[in-house]
Amino acid sequence: SCGMQENRICTAAEEWQCMDTTSSSKLLIKGGTVVNADRQQLADVYIEDGVIVAVQPNIQVADEVRILDASGKYVMPGGIDPHTHLEMPFMGQTAIDDFFSGQAAALAGGTTMHIDFVIPSNGSLAEGFEAYAKKAEKSCMDYAFHMAVTSWNEGVARDMEILVKEKGINSFKFFMAYKGSLMVNDEVLLKGFKMCKDLGALAQVHAENGDAVAEGQSRMIKLGITGPEGHALSRPSMLEGEATARAIRLAKFVNTPLYVVHVMSIDALDEIVRARKSGQRVIGEPVVSGLVLDDSKLWDPDFMIAAQYVMSPPIRSSGHNQALRAALSTGLLQLVGTDHCSFNSTQKEAGLNDFRKIPNGVNGIEERMHLIWDVMVNSGQISVMDYVRITSTACAQIFNIYPRKGAILPNSDADIIILNPNATFQITAKSHHSKMDTNVYEGWAGKGKVEVTISRGKIVWEHDRLMIQRGSGQYISMPPFGYLFDGIDKIDSTYLSSLKAPVYRRGI
Ligand code: URP
Ligand code: ZN
Ligand code: ZN
Ligand code: ZN
Repeated sequence: SCGMQENRICTAAEEWQCMDTTSSSKLLIKGGTVVNADRQQLADVYIEDGVIVAVQPNIQVADEVRILDASGKYVMPGGIDPHTHLEMPFMGQTAIDDFFSGQAAALAGGTTMHIDFVIPSNGSLAEGFEAYAKKAEKSCMDYAFHMAVTSWNEGVARDMEILVKEKGINSFKFFMAYKGSLMVNDEVLLKGFKMCKDLGALAQVHAENGDAVAEGQSRMIKLGITGPEGHALSRPSMLEGEATARAIRLAKFVNTPLYVVHVMSIDALDEIVRARKSGQRVIGEPVVSGLVLDDSKLWDPDFMIAAQYVMSPPIRSSGHNQALRAALSTGLLQLVGTDHCSFNSTQKEAGLNDFRKIPNGVNGIEERMHLIWDVMVNSGQISVMDYVRITSTACAQIFNIYPRKGAILPNSDADIIILNPNATFQITAKSHHSKMDTNVYEGWAGKGKVEVTISRGKIVWEHDRLMIQRGSGQYISMPPFGYLFDGIDKIDSTYLSSLKAPVYRRGI
């Protein structure tokens, strides 16, 4: 193996151990269709020192500039995955993709930034943040963090404030499921939402009724249903709908924006749509597995196959994915994540005799961009501009890092992909870049291939090879009070003045 030698491009087998120093710091992408969320145009993109300098037709450059021909291809902002769990300690295991292998996979699939969920260590948010910062030192692409709130006390409240004001965190996730480990009750949700509002941080929920899930699980075990299908049977979609509705109402009561992660069912979708129709600020994030898979594999008699598909909320029967795709295509849902949380066969085997012990999670960080293109653009369901919006721009806007990320504009970071709509892609564990020994999209073949990925101005993926460097990824601070908070104070004061009339009548 090359052992990270300099000035050397690797062979496929050793590729992602590689350190490549051949990339020029000046780059011209010529003749492609440059697509942003709001327009597309035939233009060249000129990059210097990791930043986009110009976007216009016929840019002339000096000889030393490396030129990439993009004619007949789409030049788009690199994908941003709003939902990943690299190296996550969960259910007695640690997710197998770390901040290097997971990001290598991401880059090979056209994703140039991700936002991972920090889990508190020993109940401490600050300690959790430090632990994740350490894990992420091996990063080869840009990343940011959400923080999970899994309990409540003064220390948690204080840490939330420090994380927002000093550490670049602007979103907190509350788990309404995983009773006995990560789950919080309504009291914590309310206190947490209030704190989020005060800090200008976005409240996020994993919406499933964890008490009912626990009840459903014991019901299955009592019936002798111990296989992976018991996972789906124990937590039906109405439990996702209930928790989604509850979180939405509590966020409304506090008057703070809400972000529902991994929307997997029509039940949850309906609640989000109802809230948005009423004017409430609710963001819904479907994930690739929920958009393109269905639950059929959970009934595979081979445990090792079925267990691969165990995630929470469960992958639903096929009507749900169709409804989620339709909602995403028209903006009822806003952006696509993966929930990449990969456990290999040995790890999944922990639940061989009891589905409750199968570590929850599926892969997707490498596949998201290709699958969404194949399923939604190739089918005619969305435009290429919509594709950019749901895979990149909306995420950057929601988490307040736009237009540094999520756009091909002068001064934006040069995180760019070149997609050839006529080339084919094929997904298999044999050639993917994740450490996983399986792939829930095994065998999927489609049209539209990410041929080049550029991360901060460096070509990191070309000719099916990665050229990446451990430690080159940077932490992206996400400032609070993103656009979802605009006007929240005015709604509060309207509410307060509406209370005055009855109060005066009672002579208070
Ligand atoms: O099954 C899943 N989704 N695993 C990751 C943790 C979470 O709930 O997002
Ligand atoms: Zn090498
Ligand atoms: Zn979750
Ligand atoms: Zn997740």
